[in-house]
Amino acid sequence: MARIAVVPGDGIGNEVITEGLRVLHALAPDIETEHFDLGAERYLRDGTTMPADVMRRFGSEFSAVLLGALGDPRVPSNVHAKDILLGSRFELDLFINFRPCKLLDARYCPLKDRAESDIDFVVFRENTEGLYTGVGGQFKRGTADEVAMEQEINTRKGVERIIRAAFAWARANGRRKVCMSDKANAMRHGHDLWQRVFRLVAAEYPDIAASHLYVDVLAMRLVQAPQDFDVIVTNNLFGDIITDLGAALQGGIGLAASGNLNPGKAALFEPVHGSAPDIAGQGIANPFATLLTVGMLLAYLGRPEQEVRLQRAVQTCLKAGRVTRELGGTLRTTEATDAVLAAL
Ligand code: IPM
Ligand code: MN
Repeated sequence: MARIAVVPGDGIGNEVITEGLRVLHALAPDIETEHFDLGAERYLRDGTTMPADVMRRFGSEFSAVLLGALGDPRVPSNVHAKDILLGSRFELDLFINFRPCKLLDARYCPLKDRAESDIDFVVFRENTEGLYTGVGGQFKRGTADEVAMEQEINTRKGVERIIRAAFAWARANGRRKVCMSDKANAMRHGHDLWQRVFRLVAAEYPDIAASHLYVDVLAMRLVQAPQDFDVIVTNNLFGDIITDLGAALQGGIGLAASGNLNPGKAALFEPVHGSAPDIAGQGIANPFATLLTVGMLLAYLGRPEQEVRLQRAVQTCLKAGRVTRELGGTLRTTEATDAVLAAL
């Protein structure tokens, strides 16, 4: 039986995970969950960010982790988020950050005259290296002569496995196109590696159209012609940035779901949004990103039909305007979940 580790985390993470669990238990009463008290409160209480034994248990005793959000103004260094979220991505070696971007109701798209079918692509964001490893250093900190360096790590293995994952997923899911995005015109070492590996892997997938865009052009094209994209594969930082752009295209960060994956290993699922301290505790956060994330989790556990059902139920609510305030509705977090449960 599947077991899920649950980390609500900070701010609205607690509110949306409560809702996500209601829906998870309704759709899959057999799935066991175990709650983990990790986040800013815990850190402020006893200094714990991410205990090593919990990390080990995540990797060995659970099918997946469901995470809410991390970030709290009382922890300006964000050290707990770094240890818990980036720590899990790195130590569990979750090299795929899978971020679908699908418009469920055209009225929430900020672009004019767009049909739902125009926005339906998936981003494969590299999730274990790039500019996120913390490799670098500071020298003469706080002086007029200070130097700060952040090294971008691109390994042959890391680049190849994310590019392969993107092509394999495209083929398995009937998608025709994979676009790789880098900045090889300015970053001549690491991104040259991306170019070469992309060409090699693309040659193994003659049935998939392979294209390349520099990331600045990709940002522009995603706004001008989102219908051109099926699968995008890119590095950690660029993937972070363009998936927020993608979230906006699908109706806002309150609707964006994600999975941190390494096939065959424990995965970590989280809504793309953060802890939103400005609205935390008010009961008005949008639970839909978490519900769609729960759908992704169910598909990962071998129940893809439940993901489809859940996505349809969220879509029904979006179309009926049964949504939270930031989408123009009147519903509170719990009521929006009630609406989805009713639609189910
Ligand atoms: C995300 C977030 C994280 C990231 C932050 C919280 C470190 O923005 O999951 O997209 O940059 O990966
Ligand atoms: Mn982000």
